[in-house]
Amino acid sequence: MKRERSSALSPLARTIAADVAGIAKAAAMIRAGGLAAFPTETVYGLAGDATSDAAVARIFAAKARPSFNPLIAHVASLDAALEQGTFRTEALQLAKAFWPGPLTLVVPLAPGATVCSTARAGLDSVALRVPVHPVALALISAVRRPLAAPSANRSGRISPVTAAHVAADLGNSIDLILDGGQSAMGLESTVIACLEDGPRLLRPGAIARREIEAVLGHALTESAGPAALRSPGMLASHYAPRAKLRLEAKELESCEAGLDFGGVFGGRENVRDLSASRDLKEAAANLFAFLHELDALGPARIAVAPIPHEGLGEAINDRLARAAAPRGAS
Ligand code: TXA
Ligand code: MG
Repeated sequence: MKRERSSALSPLARTIAADVAGIAKAAAMIRAGGLAAFPTETVYGLAGDATSDAAVARIFAAKARPSFNPLIAHVASLDAALEQGTFRTEALQLAKAFWPGPLTLVVPLAPGATVCSTARAGLDSVALRVPVHPVALALISAVRRPLAAPSANRSGRISPVTAAHVAADLGNSIDLILDGGQSAMGLESTVIACLEDGPRLLRPGAIARREIEAVLGHALTESAGPAALRSPGMLASHYAPRAKLRLEAKELESCEAGLDFGGVFGGRENVRDLSASRDLKEAAANLFAFLHELDALGPARIAVAPIPHEGLGEAINDRLARAAAPRGAS
């Protein structure tokens, strides 16, 4: 049920600039158990104190997220990550190569770790990430605790890459939104598990598989079993716009808006081209923003042009497949 609010308190009223004063305000709010959305290089996150079961429970409630789906704890440095997780050789190698940046490592919980059980969904592992966005790093440093932060959208909806996306989706259920402009990468972090066996890819993301394999010097181990069991966030129906999606479309039908790649559909009003020059990095950065824009036009369906599966195409196609999956799974 939604909380009652006066019309003077529109969602946008609680969006503030991500400057020094704004970051200090958000940090104080989080230290007091509140929630604040903030920009990262991947997507906007919804941050709460990762050491507080009560604060983390508020995150799950605001997102209507199933409590079995653990959150990423964001820390400001590798040293801070080492206090929370146990890093063996390959985990350390990956952390040193990609942090700060869009890599999340799932490692065994360290003795004395402070990330609470609710954030970990009761697991004895913890997902850790050191973001590179200056606002994210400044916020974590100001709170002086790990920040639990899932993407700042209602569970199963498209991830937000602007403060306005967050306000439209979660404006009524969170305290504050720090506006730091559009997220540059536009795709969530790559999630790798470094547990008993070799590193496993749990979620393709903003760092392509081949970049990770180049650092490791060998191929990532393929995960066995359904993705949802390995990484509880990998539910089939996720990232869903209101409109239905038709993938691998070669032409546009009359009831459709188009998510193009490389000018397949031709320039029309209801078409957005992820990258006219077929650049996958540009396409990743535009993906969620364009899905938000096309969905707002209210089409019955969104046709999506074929996107190559190499490099960042793996993560882009993963998100599109989830957005196209039948609803109701999450
Ligand atoms: O780029 C990102 O990763 C963004 C920004 C805000 O940092 N965050 C994000 O969080 O995408 P979220 O909660 O939407 O996705 C976290 C993923 C989920 O698939 C979750 O199941 C998985 O990480 N995860 C977290 N802890 C885990 C654990 N202990 N074991 C396995 N998977 C875990
Ligand atoms: Mg998410």
